[in-house]
Amino acid sequence: MITFRDYYNNEVKLSFDDHPFSEDPRHVWVICRYKGKWLLTKHRERGLEFPGGKVEEGETARAAAVREVMEETGGTVQEITYIGQYMVNGRKDIVIKNVYYAIVEELTEQETYYETEGPVLLKFIPSRVKQMRKYSFIMKDGVLENCMDYLRHHKVK
Ligand code: GTP
Repeated sequence: MITFRDYYNNEVKLSFDDHPFSEDPRHVWVICRYKGKWLLTKHRERGLEFPGGKVEEGETARAAAVREVMEETGGTVQEITYIGQYMVNGRKDIVIKNVYYAIVEELTEQETYYETEGPVLLKFIPSRVKQMRKYSFIMKDGVLENCMDYLRHHKVK
């Protein structure tokens, strides 16, 4: 378990164990690859981030992850793997998110990308992301760097 503070100074706990904080998390976040590039979305308020969002009533977290990738990027998920879970102790409430790694096989232009402006493909995630205004706050804490390290060191299918 790794503990750190986020961009807003909220406490975050991240773990690569199997659902350590909740069996039934209400949020998902999906690190996406498409044709050898990172696939992000541009949230209208927050800026560039990997896609994600809330699990709907009666939906599994995995299904929510696949849906959010489609809604926010137009990407069709070919393979998706659970890699970990994090918990943010926010001012108002506690948010628990599953993190997935997904391979996207196809990008289809959508009529709407919901709260986002749609897909953004990047060859690299800059190491200075924390100092860059165009990136979302959710890309600016230990979740991103630790998940990227995890993916580098594990053979995630
Ligand atoms: P909406 O109902 O969509 O407007 O959501 P919300 O703004 O109430 O946000 P949500 O329930 O997704 O999250 C509540 C708070 O938790 C946010 O304001 C953030 O402070 C925090 N939070 C949510 N997701 C993340 C995340 O991925 N990383 C970090 N560090 N904090 C998060």
